[in-house]
Amino acid sequence: MNAIQAKLEAIRNQYMEALVKADGSESLQALRVRYLGKKGELTQLLRSLGGLPPEERPMAGQALNELRQEVEASLERQAVLLAHAEDEAMEASDRLDVTLPPRGRGWGAFHPVVQTMNEIIDIFVGMGFSVAYGPEIEDDFHNFEALNIPPHHPARDMQDTFYLNSGKLLRTHTSPVEVRSMLKWGAPLRIIIPGKVYRRDSDQTHSPMFHQLEGLLIDEDVSLADLKGCLNTFVGAIFGRPLDSRFRASHFPFTEPSLEMDVECFACSGRNPACRICKGTGWLEILGCGMTHPNVLRYGGIDPDRYNGFAWGMGPDRVAMLKYGLTDLRVLFEGHGSFLTGGGY
Ligand code: DAH
Repeated sequence: MNAIQAKLEAIRNQYMEALVKADGSESLQALRVRYLGKKGELTQLLRSLGGLPPEERPMAGQALNELRQEVEASLERQAVLLAHAEDEAMEASDRLDVTLPPRGRGWGAFHPVVQTMNEIIDIFVGMGFSVAYGPEIEDDFHNFEALNIPPHHPARDMQDTFYLNSGKLLRTHTSPVEVRSMLKWGAPLRIIIPGKVYRRDSDQTHSPMFHQLEGLLIDEDVSLADLKGCLNTFVGAIFGRPLDSRFRASHFPFTEPSLEMDVECFACSGRNPACRICKGTGWLEILGCGMTHPNVLRYGGIDPDRYNGFAWGMGPDRVAMLKYGLTDLRVLFEGHGSFLTGGGY
């Protein structure tokens, strides 16, 4: 290969590299000037042909012309391609597809606690219970006295109860609605009472506002076996399969006897000593319950010689924590947007 051919080859390679990188009509124009312009590389080379020995001129001239044509043609081709791509890009960015469905508005979703409460309510409604509500600002009579909680009882302690200047208080549990409902409807009675309650308490497992779901059944000849059957049915329904349960002796002023109900850990059934849910105990405490104290029936205007009943109180927040595997109760009440848009936590 002689010197001029080598030079043409080098220019060609350089040009091809630049051509591939050209990304618009401006860079193509710059290439045209650089190679074909008055002072362009090929133009200058053409002028220098005169300095070659005469026998080399025709070959060199032909090779140079071929390259000029190739550059010319490829610039043209590339210009068409680029213009096409530019058009397409503009169309794509500008495109209005009138057949597209509108962008969603971000559906709201029920908060996990509300979902859990609704599930629990559905289960008891299916067993013939009605839903009852009561005020969150309560008086001493309904929150304490009528529930057989005497004046010296620690539950009345300022530490636990939010008192208002009016002498009223924020209910510390949903049990006052038991009394209100007995006074309103009398016996027989089957109610569940969902709602917010308040206590002066805040840490990983306590929030100053939390939820309770209370139940009350009053009829003739109600037994502890009825209570167990009712609550075991509920547990099987909320956790999706029958679970073992156990009832431990406890104390509440408004029930006698009083019990605490534990259910078999739905996660490990007691088989995993390192279980995060039951802390290896195999049991989950889920509610307090008992046979309604005769004094409470009396306060509710119901004759304890004719009627008796059972009641229970549970924390749906805790049930939601268990169901969704949360470790800090407070996240439920900090207004996380994801809880309300169905995004999960
Ligand atoms: N009122 C109780 C509390 O706030 C919960 C409770 C326990 C309610 C036993 C009941 C019951 O009706 O029978 O801790």
